[in-house]
Amino acid sequence: MSRNSKLISPTAHYTGQVWFRNGLSDRRLSTLQGKVFYQTLKPMMQASARMGGPTLEGFLLARHQLIDLQLEQAIASGAISQVIEVAAGLSPRGLRMKKKFGEKLTYVEADLPAMAALKAKKLSLTTTGSHRVFAIDALQDHGPQSLTYLCDGLRQNEGTALITEGLLNYFPQHAVEGLWNRFASALGRFPAGLYLSDLHLKPSNNSPLVAAFLAGLSAFVAGKVQLHYEDDESCLSALGVAGFETAELLKPGQWAHLLESCAAPGANLVSIVKAQCSQRSK
Ligand SMILES: C[S@@+](CC[C@H](N)C(=O)[O-])C[C@H]1O[C@@H](n2cnc3c(N)ncnc32)[C@H](O)[C@@H]1O
Repeated sequence: MSRNSKLISPTAHYTGQVWFRNGLSDRRLSTLQGKVFYQTLKPMMQASARMGGPTLEGFLLARHQLIDLQLEQAIASGAISQVIEVAAGLSPRGLRMKKKFGEKLTYVEADLPAMAALKAKKLSLTTTGSHRVFAIDALQDHGPQSLTYLCDGLRQNEGTALITEGLLNYFPQHAVEGLWNRFASALGRFPAGLYLSDLHLKPSNNSPLVAAFLAGLSAFVAGKVQLHYEDDESCLSALGVAGFETAELLKPGQWAHLLESCAAPGANLVSIVKAQCSQRSK
């Protein structure tokens, strides 16, 4: 496990609290650590909001709900019936998707061992069943904590989605591209493979407010927020090199008519990666 991996785990408590406060989660996934983080950052977020600037909550909700929408559409269409949420943290998405789609959906909550154990305890999940946990280190290529091993335990003939939310921008670009390689080859085992993730590109807007916001965000995660690509093209090209057959970057603003969160200041600080790959493309 990398040093970055250890540093970013506490942020899952903050996001968990954001999901809970916005009616997206379950009380069991709200932690004391999350409440303390939330209250600590609140004055800074209120100050930014007063100046019409972005807030953490604004882009977190936009990314979460836009990923939900894409995933729900893929499940409802019948293309996807297995979901692996890598770095799931205290995300309530698995609970909500299982509630909506029931037994026909297999949902795997995958995270580093300590977080996976915490989630298993809070939701009374085990490592088997249609809603399960898996202790993963997404940086590993082989072994019992690898994505390959996780995929061995899934049905090989069913469409599978893989989600990362709040993970990529804590890693340097070469590590992100290593993750994408692993994800594309894992999804390429299935008849349909869908990858969804948030990603922050280098901002073209150099406003002092955005710069201050990004500095605050980095301070929150111990100086580890990394912005990788200058533009959509370079990001999409890297996804192609990693092995995805198709890729696009969704901009929350385009969904503002469907999702209120996508109209918030700051929503467009994030892009959503939607990439596909399947047995047919291998
Ligand atoms: C910012 S939190 C996001 C949690 C959740 N996805 C959300 O949006 O609420 C980042 C998560 O990444 C997990 N993580 C860090 N390094 C990881 C790795 N190498 N493999 C898998 N998960 C990792 C952390 O444990 C943490 O739960």
